[in-house]
Amino acid sequence: MGVDRCICHRVSFKTLLELSKQVGSDYSKLAEMTKCGTQCGMCVPYIHVALATGKARVPVMKDEELMKAMGAGKA
Ligand code: FES
Repeated sequence: MGVDRCICHRVSFKTLLELSKQVGSDYSKLAEMTKCGTQCGMCVPYIHVALATGKARVPVMKDEELMKAMGAGKA
């Protein structure tokens, strides 16, 4: 089990990873194109991890783990 999509906008991380190959892995640009992460926002840290790791499914993590996986340091 894990997080593999933005549920609010029905955008899979697989789609985002494919799109990032064409336009780059800048989250803001991907959000502008697909609206991913722009509603409840719960998927945003997982999108960052997906983009950083290239994995289309990210395990459910605690905030500290997400921040570490994103390379942002402390939660
Ligand atoms: S799950 Fe992505 S904005 Fe809500």
